[in-house]
Amino acid sequence: MGNSYTQHYNELLESLEKKSLRRKLKVSESASAPLMTIDGRSMLTFCSNDYLGLANHPQIADAIATGAQRYGSGSGASHMISGHNQAHDELEKALAQTQSSFIPNIKALFFGTGYMANMAAITALSSISDGSNAMGSMSIFSEELNHASLIDGIRLASKQNHAKIHIYPHQNMDALRKMLAEDSNPFKLIVTDGVFSMDGDIAHVNQLLELAEEFNTLLMIDDAHGFGVLGDGGLGILNMFGVSASDTRASRIIYMGTLGKAAGLSGAFVAGDAGLIEWVMQKGRAYIYTTASPPLIAQGLLKSLELMRDPHHRLNLEKNIAHWHTHLKLKKWHLMPSQTAIQPIVIGSNADALKVAQHLDQRNIWVPAIRPPTVPEGTARLRVTLSATHTADQIDQLIQALHEIEDAF
Ligand SMILES: Cc1ncc(COP(=O)(O)O)c(C=O)c1O
Repeated sequence: MGNSYTQHYNELLESLEKKSLRRKLKVSESASAPLMTIDGRSMLTFCSNDYLGLANHPQIADAIATGAQRYGSGSGASHMISGHNQAHDELEKALAQTQSSFIPNIKALFFGTGYMANMAAITALSSISDGSNAMGSMSIFSEELNHASLIDGIRLASKQNHAKIHIYPHQNMDALRKMLAEDSNPFKLIVTDGVFSMDGDIAHVNQLLELAEEFNTLLMIDDAHGFGVLGDGGLGILNMFGVSASDTRASRIIYMGTLGKAAGLSGAFVAGDAGLIEWVMQKGRAYIYTTASPPLIAQGLLKSLELMRDPHHRLNLEKNIAHWHTHLKLKKWHLMPSQTAIQPIVIGSNADALKVAQHLDQRNIWVPAIRPPTVPEGTARLRVTLSATHTADQIDQLIQALHEIEDAF
């Protein structure tokens, strides 16, 4: 049965399988939490980005139910047509408010996902001409370990708007400075993850801002893993680095935060100077040509923003990270130097990383093995994520299992 195409793709799938690169879906039968029912089994999980434990919060569920009663289930159209609801509008104002102490003249734009937000913002900002005259193209300076959604946005910007791409080595500010100095283009954009999603380390925001000022660039920071977690009240990476709206350099920042991780729901926002954000709205095809996410999500997110301010979630998370660092003693494998909720353990080969994840799975512990192309070849790893809702006892179970598996490996 089948044809030459089905045969071709089946062969490709077999090749993935042989390289230990074929991903398998697990079916969860319960809400996101440290203990979940997965494919019928009760499992202890260390894999979600629900850092504050809000993904199953009853008050958010209630707010969503109120949103559904008030506005129905779907938005009906894209934002630019009839899909922009007052709940979206209220949410955008509240999101802008979270960053208003750090960025002057701020406006925020809400998106259905972070992937779309990054695609829209980068393609729009690299669109530097209104078509009436030739302006050349944008030079984009992209961090080596940027998230796939930033990379895809940059690739599309190159295709659509002829943006020139420079990739600078991870956290290497000297290399970035050299690249910036060698490029005489007057239109430049630096793009970076705030917290690196597969490594857990944090971008050097102050140095990036200095370089942005010195070389007259825009600076886009994807704070997917920092919003809700870093800074006072979880306000994010700009607050953590003491960026202030009264500092004129801050008008160069385009801040991106996601709402499906610490905020516990879904969506994302891009915030920055009102003119820049208005341009993203006018030119971001991933904003314009898609149905607005249901207003009930915006209603739920307004409640998330309120709950995120409660410091006890972050205190629990910090306590859990400290507990993990104190008790985990690896001999062969390498715990990456991260102070955030993302605590990767580098194993090395794809097959070994998969084997360790399978040993954990046999003990009903779920930690995902992350392999290329998500991470560089030879650095396959376990991506352990900690949450405010893990107990010390649950973390000890993982640590003991890792010690035993490593000893026998
Ligand atoms: C750094 C980073 N940016 C963007 C995204 C995309 O966000 P979303 O899941 O909302 O599409 C993710 C995670 O998925 C991420 O880790």
